[in-house]
Amino acid sequence: MKIFNSDLTSPLIEDYILEMTRIEDKLVDEMHTYAEINEVPIIGPLVGKYLYQIALITNAEKIFEMGSGFGYSAYWFAKAFKGKSKVICTDFSGDHKEAAKSFFKKAGFENYLEFVCGNSLEILKESGDKYDIIFIDIDKEEYPYVIDITYDKLNKNGLMIADNTLWYGRVIEDDELPSTKGIKKFNNMMSLDKRFITTIIPLRDGITLSYKKN
Ligand SMILES: C[S@@+](CC[C@H](N)C(=O)[O-])C[C@H]1O[C@@H](n2cnc3c(N)ncnc32)[C@H](O)[C@@H]1O
Repeated sequence: MKIFNSDLTSPLIEDYILEMTRIEDKLVDEMHTYAEINEVPIIGPLVGKYLYQIALITNAEKIFEMGSGFGYSAYWFAKAFKGKSKVICTDFSGDHKEAAKSFFKKAGFENYLEFVCGNSLEILKESGDKYDIIFIDIDKEEYPYVIDITYDKLNKNGLMIADNTLWYGRVIEDDELPSTKGIKKFNNMMSLDKRFITTIIPLRDGITLSYKKN
């Protein structure tokens, strides 16, 4: 499983970036081991530290995650929290919920976590709240459907962040996989959507940052 590298940029450059990222967090190490053993795909430390930094810069207080797995990406956001900040995790899996609760407890972050099991799109649609950041990491064929609902649920000047938007390079191939088609459609829609300012950052497997203008 490619936790650290996507091989989109030179593996040596990725190794170098990782070295310069200097992850010094024992719980993160533990989560990497858990991901390996249980074969759960995660964003990895390069994107994780980037999310942590964005949460710090924006002083985000309410973050909604679509596709939380066992809480690894959520943990990176939560590292930036203070006071009443919350990350609302969503995933189909009850096992992921239990694992996330256990990792957050270990970190002393239990007050920062709310975990709802079910379809992330439905949960977001039904949510009565607005969010500073909405993070997207669900099945890739669903990406085009998150745009309008995310727009509605973001605060003014909020951020949509989507993972895997270079899809291990398949975005530039003639690939008929539904996942690839979903990512390509999403990228194209976001590139034309005037409600957001969007950049694709070629970090690991591609991470898209979209700023909601109003
Ligand atoms: C790549 S993993 C998430 C990893 C997590 N963001 C991290 O980096 O720690 C994708 C997760 O999304 C969940 N998922 C996919 N589509 C979903 C949907 N529509 N609603 C809820 N969960 C979904 C899967 O169960 C899986 O656990």
